[in-house]
Amino acid sequence: MVRSDIYGGCPVEISPREGVLMKVLVTGGAGFIGSHLVRQLMKAGDEVISLDNLSTGRKENLPSQAKLEVLDIHDEEVERLFSQEHFDAVVHLAGQTLVSDSMTDPQNDMYQNIAGTVHILECCRKYGVKRVIFSSSAATYGDVDEKALPIPETLPQLPLSFYGLSKMTVEKYLALYQQVFGIHYVVLRFSNVYGERQGNGGEGGVISIFAKALAQGKGITIYGDGNQTRDFVYAGDIARGIRKALVTDNCDTCYNLSSETEINLNELVRIFSDIVGKKIVPEYGPAREGDINRSSLSNKKAQKKLLWKPEMSLEEGLKKTYEYFLK
Ligand SMILES: NC(=O)c1ccc[n+]([C@@H]2O[C@H](COP(=O)([O-])OP(=O)(O)OC[C@H]3O[C@@H](n4cnc5c(N)ncnc54)[C@H](O)[C@@H]3O)[C@@H](O)[C@H]2O)c1
Repeated sequence: MVRSDIYGGCPVEISPREGVLMKVLVTGGAGFIGSHLVRQLMKAGDEVISLDNLSTGRKENLPSQAKLEVLDIHDEEVERLFSQEHFDAVVHLAGQTLVSDSMTDPQNDMYQNIAGTVHILECCRKYGVKRVIFSSSAATYGDVDEKALPIPETLPQLPLSFYGLSKMTVEKYLALYQQVFGIHYVVLRFSNVYGERQGNGGEGGVISIFAKALAQGKGITIYGDGNQTRDFVYAGDIARGIRKALVTDNCDTCYNLSSETEINLNELVRIFSDIVGKKIVPEYGPAREGDINRSSLSNKKAQKKLLWKPEMSLEEGLKKTYEYFLK
């Protein structure tokens, strides 16, 4: 098979189409992004089962009628689930999500994010899953020259963390599983995701940390001068992008999902001041080692080929997030 068949070709007949009911497994479905995705898939009429070990996720993140299998992605029981349910597609979100933990324990990061994923892919292969959607990350690009911003998908991946490396490695596994076994896949590289039900860790954490502290009447701290920028994208928009990837008949295999806007942390605090209705004066601490200065992913390709674009304004999304933590 020639290389273009692996990366740009469309080697399998993809049956799901917009409006057609699909049976989908969401690993990590009880987590932050999973909880947004499961709601949207159920609303679209898909049959959805979540698989989650509840290590950071919570049952309460899901609507009461959602189906949840409390399992670890490494468990042998996972195979039973695949053999019984005959999923059309799998959205793989479960894994180790902390860059910092990957630096202190690269072996666990590898076990969760690479070995765990290969187990899921083996189940997909054995039980005829047609498509896998994978949650990759901006962390696979590493620290990029500011001239290259917003980062396109074509930029070489040079991860600086084991987390970024494990995500990039899974991308390569997916390409080879497609080439060898014909399982179609779509890699989605998210920027900093935020919204209701986000935990304190993860990559988009700063918004949930600020929103939670403010909702509890506590102060907030910015590490560094606050001029560092991030590309924040609302979790509901990410969930919409994942569903687009589930049903697209475009054969491309990799997209950034981002807002393609750069907001600095001082500006973020200003927007929070408007939402809370009083001027918030943050404390400033020393810049954290390894923090990148500017970050933004191009979303042009997703706009053109997935027909996706983010719809939630940062002001509205922050308001929803703050109100969630108030409750
Ligand atoms: N939040 C972001 O900004 C962001 C950015 C880029 C990529 N991602 C990726 O998106 C995915 C979802 O992230 P999230 O922010 O919703 O994090 P999350 O921690 O809320 O969700 C992960 C879910 O997976 C479950 N899980 C973890 N290990 C498991 C295992 N071994 N077996 C079964 N379940 C397991 C957790 O209990 C949790 O419910 C992750 O793969 C993450 O790396 C997130």
